Amino acid sequence: SVLRTLPRRTSTAGTRRGFASESAPDRKVAILGAAGGIGQPLSLLMKLNPLVSRLALYDIAGTPGVAADVSHINTRSEILGYAGEEQLGKALEGADVVIIPAGVPRKPGMTRDDLFNINAGIVKSLCTAIAKYCPHALVNVISNPVNSTVPIASEVFKKAGTYDEKRLFGVTTLDVVRAKTFYAGKAKVSVADVNVPVVGGHAGVTILPLFSQATPSANLSSEDIEALTKRTQDGGTEVVEAKAGKGSATLSMAYAGAIFADACLKGLNGVPDVVECSFVQSTVTDLPFFASKVRLGKNGVEQVLGLGALSDYEKEGLEALKPELKSSIEKGIKFANA
Ligand code: NAD
Ligand code: LMR
Repeated sequence: SVLRTLPRRTSTAGTRRGFASESAPDRKVAILGAAGGIGQPLSLLMKLNPLVSRLALYDIAGTPGVAADVSHINTRSEILGYAGEEQLGKALEGADVVIIPAGVPRKPGMTRDDLFNINAGIVKSLCTAIAKYCPHALVNVISNPVNSTVPIASEVFKKAGTYDEKRLFGVTTLDVVRAKTFYAGKAKVSVADVNVPVVGGHAGVTILPLFSQATPSANLSSEDIEALTKRTQDGGTEVVEAKAGKGSATLSMAYAGAIFADACLKGLNGVPDVVECSFVQSTVTDLPFFASKVRLGKNGVEQVLGLGALSDYEKEGLEALKPELKSSIEKGIKFANA
């Protein structure tokens, strides 16, 4: 048949008008740190996303190989590989979404804050380039410690005169991914149906899953809720210990990063009701940045949603996380202004 000679996607869409890759707007996504443990599988997953038309893969080294490899996949996007600082501008020019998984990961015994000394400078320099080459892009910060690197990015953009709080996101989707998986296992419900908001920040006790709002609801004991909360908060450490010195979560993070970037692209394209949790500038609490549910739209953040009703256990968790989150935010701001 005629359909057989056309790309497979066309046959599922039925008509050429429905051919997603031709009707979707041109969208450039740049990944900074694309040759790394997260960067490589994230490059793969973004290559599979039909909303992306150009995918720029940047790293200080190693990107020509990753780009050549990923470029052979027969999906919509054109792959552009860039290596070395002198190519960063080209990688960023025209980007609609920039995803930053650049930086060192933890080893057993380290906290995310122990990465600050190296990663703060990396994020600062990458954000300086973003302000210059793609000041309107939505920026998805994955590099740890997210509780500090997002405030660093905001200060860099403020100094450059390009800051738009609607366009800066700390990626906390992996906390949501974990909370959903762990909850589904305990509640014995289908994981595909589960929703759990996770608020606060992205380190230890600052990660606050709201299991009282989890759906489908289940009658879990307070011991179960406490164990689930702790496991979600320590999810990163669980992987760091299992990898025993070979880094932290990369595959689950790439999945989470791809989910969040896809939500950003859908928002930009005008898809209604796109809601994800993210660490953003916020007035939900007295802290200047806070993770909560965010509605995404054509300009990035359309609405930062409130926390909803909390259980007493969650209220305690909220108060307990504030001092650490506050000091991590202040540390980032201070570094950027030093
Ligand atoms: P990795 O060491 O495997 O990869 C990091 C990559 O960044 C390397 O390829 C390196 O060359 C590159 N890089 C370093 N400096 C750079 C620069 N100036 N410009 C561009 N690229 C640069 O590490 P990974 O496992 O991919 O983790 C990356 C970061 O993501 C770590 O900071 C880690 O803690 C963080 N992380 C965050 C989450 C989250 O939930 N937000 C989850 C997992 C990991
Ligand atoms: C995670 O949550 O897996 C990441 O933040 C990496 C880490 O250091 O735990």
